[in-house]
Amino acid sequence: MPITATVLRWTVRLTGLLSLLLGLGLWNGAWFNLLGLHQGLGLIMSAALVWLVLLGFVRSVSLALLGLALLCSLALPVVGTLQGLLLPGQNHWLIEVLHPVLGIGAIVLAELIGSRMRARPEPAARRGV
Ligand code: HEM
Repeated sequence: MPITATVLRWTVRLTGLLSLLLGLGLWNGAWFNLLGLHQGLGLIMSAALVWLVLLGFVRSVSLALLGLALLCSLALPVVGTLQGLLLPGQNHWLIEVLHPVLGIGAIVLAELIGSRMRARPEPAARRGV
């Protein structure tokens, strides 16, 4: 696996887990002053996942897996940013659940892409260069 992919995988792991921790603090009603940090880390995670998707594409990782990861990495910042406006009222809890599900899903998808990439040889090696 190229070093860039390893760095991106660790970026998703660390920023994702920290976002989750901060998110739990936000959910708890505390740490609201850390919302900016939570959003920043989440955006870094989404960007790292998009980059990992591009590397996975070069390595011929399954398009279904890459498509799902791309969808997740784009939906997460949209849902996170618009969180307060989406489904106001009784059903707002659905958005509050969807948001961390997308975040945790993004971490899991990055792991899957990383492990598929590890299982595949470099494109040059495949061509016998
Ligand atoms: C992509 C960037 C992200 C943005 C813009 C964002 C934005 C937000 C906002 C604005 C809130 C507060 C909602 C409220 O209380 O009204 C929130 C809460 C939360 N976030 Fe994020 N977030 C992002 C990424 C993540 C990630 C990666 C995770 C988990 C891995 C996560 C997990 C949570 C959790 C558990 C909560 C509290 C429960 C909830 O309100 O849904 N977020 N986020």
